Amino acid sequence: MNCFALVPAAGSGARMGAATPKQYLDLLGKPLIWHTLHALSAVPEIARICVVISAGDEWWDSYDWSAFDRLQVLRCGGTSRAESVLNGLQAAEVDDADWALVHDAARPCLDPHMVSAMIAELQDDAVGGILAVPVADTLKRAGVCDRIACTESRDGLWQAQTPQMFRRGALIDAIAAYIGPDITDEASALEKQGHSPQLVMGSPWNIKVTYPQDLKLAALILHGAVVNG
Ligand code: CTP
Ligand code: MG
Repeated sequence: MNCFALVPAAGSGARMGAATPKQYLDLLGKPLIWHTLHALSAVPEIARICVVISAGDEWWDSYDWSAFDRLQVLRCGGTSRAESVLNGLQAAEVDDADWALVHDAARPCLDPHMVSAMIAELQDDAVGGILAVPVADTLKRAGVCDRIACTESRDGLWQAQTPQMFRRGALIDAIAAYIGPDITDEASALEKQGHSPQLVMGSPWNIKVTYPQDLKLAALILHGAVVNG
């Protein structure tokens, strides 16, 4: 069983509203993506970490990444997350049967132990699966002028996170077949093919940094992880 991580990091971070793409914003004295790569590097089952950056990335080379010995940089990012993932999967020098763990660069608070547990749970699975958490809040559907139209049941609803773990060849086939606005994660491409990926319990700490306040939250989570072990 071979596992590799694929880290899409070719986004512009438009919702963050900063001049620099969010993966390079400062988080506790390091670029945000450093924490993501540090967490993945602490997963012993992961043999290689492939980072997908855009061809025009002006930031990556200004940092020293030599401490990460299993890193491979792929300068083939696309115009959407799915395209970056597909390009990266195709460029990665790995076998089709290898497990790809696709993990957003923008999720720096990942717990390496959770990834090892995920790999242990899914390594003999026919399809693969994703980290996710059950929806906790009551859900409202908005009607006209943001008046509540109704309350939606949260029964059986989960929020998808990453990593998402699928076999490289199968994932390439699924994304290539269904790439488009509906494919916002890897599992959705497999679902279109009729597969039912496994939901694996994730963690509320595994946030995706999207808006400026998320950067502060990530700093608190990472600081807390250091303080609390
Ligand atoms: N991503 C990518 N290629 C793209 C778009 C996104 O590799 N064309 C990556 C981002 O760098 C990020 C992950 O996919 O690590 C999740 O995407 P998201 O949080 O949406 O990041 P951005 O697209 O950069 O942010 P925004 O949508 O606010 O512009
Ligand atoms: Mg985006």
